[in-house]
Amino acid sequence: MQTKLEQMKTRAVEEIKNASNLNELQEIKIKYLSRKGELNTIRRGIKDLSPEEKPFIGDLANKTAGAIEKAFDESYETLYKQSISEKLASEKLDVTLPGDFVPYGKQHPLTLTVNEIVSIFYKMGFTLVDEADSPEVETEYYNFDALNFPPDHPAKDMQDTFYTLNAPNLLLRSQTSNSQIRKMEKTPPPLRVISPGRVYRSEAVSSRKNNLFHQVEGFMVDKEVTFGDLKGVLNAFTGQFFGQERPTRFRTSFFPFTEPSVEIDVQCIICAGSGCRTCSRSGWLEILGAGMIDPNVLQTVNIDPDKYSGFAFGMGVERLAMLKLAVNDIRLFFNNDIRFLEQF
Ligand code: DAH
Repeated sequence: MQTKLEQMKTRAVEEIKNASNLNELQEIKIKYLSRKGELNTIRRGIKDLSPEEKPFIGDLANKTAGAIEKAFDESYETLYKQSISEKLASEKLDVTLPGDFVPYGKQHPLTLTVNEIVSIFYKMGFTLVDEADSPEVETEYYNFDALNFPPDHPAKDMQDTFYTLNAPNLLLRSQTSNSQIRKMEKTPPPLRVISPGRVYRSEAVSSRKNNLFHQVEGFMVDKEVTFGDLKGVLNAFTGQFFGQERPTRFRTSFFPFTEPSVEIDVQCIICAGSGCRTCSRSGWLEILGAGMIDPNVLQTVNIDPDKYSGFAFGMGVERLAMLKLAVNDIRLFFNNDIRFLEQF
């Protein structure tokens, strides 16, 4: 038994020394020192020894266990250090390497334009309409009739407006003015509201016209709102959006839902007023329609026109963006060409 123990110890220590990693080392320990390992197998024979041999072999078995454990601990420390340094070497980071290039997303020039328009009106006390009061799929009533359009108005024609096939009188709105009616129906004055959104028109697409475009509608209703308020607010807007030095002019116009009605022109950015193709040689480009809300419209939404008055306006976002950013073709906003979009 003594020989067995000594041979086993030599083998175990030898194997421990040769272990090349922590897993192997762990397996060797199990093989010799676990409950069912070789040392315990030998120990189980001790009970059959003579009383003289028992203490000697018992003691030797304990010393053998101690020696194997000591060899294990030493080897463990070496292999552990080795595994850490291997790990560090394999996971080494070169912090001076340049990172992967991830291109930034950017806001679309039309989004930037709408945001700027809205923030200018915010500063004048206007608040954003609820989305629910500004639907893109709309009835003929909110898009036209409630806005005082006569039944035979040409804009109501299928040539000009996209009607849906789902229901009679259901259409894609041709103007954001529908939100005026929806808001005023629900909320009593005083009102100062701004309503940006998409509109649709059945038109031949060209450098100046697209079937889909954006408008920002706005209106103010209160006691004693005058045309002077309209002029003050809209001049403040054009001054902030285009800069005070940019010439603008008011021109009389007509809309079914305003009386009197005006249009505002801004001097053409392409030719600085001298006349070019973009402005049809006039030197001016129209940016918005506006006017004092027609008493008929107020009556339709149960606001007493003898007590209240208001003004409204609607501007074309693409037109404003083209004039500010010197873009000469509306289609550029919709083509999703990154070379165009990344300039803004
Ligand atoms: N809805 C008109 C259009 O699309 C623009 C407009 C004109 C809106 C006058 C208004 C307004 O609110 O008062 O051409």
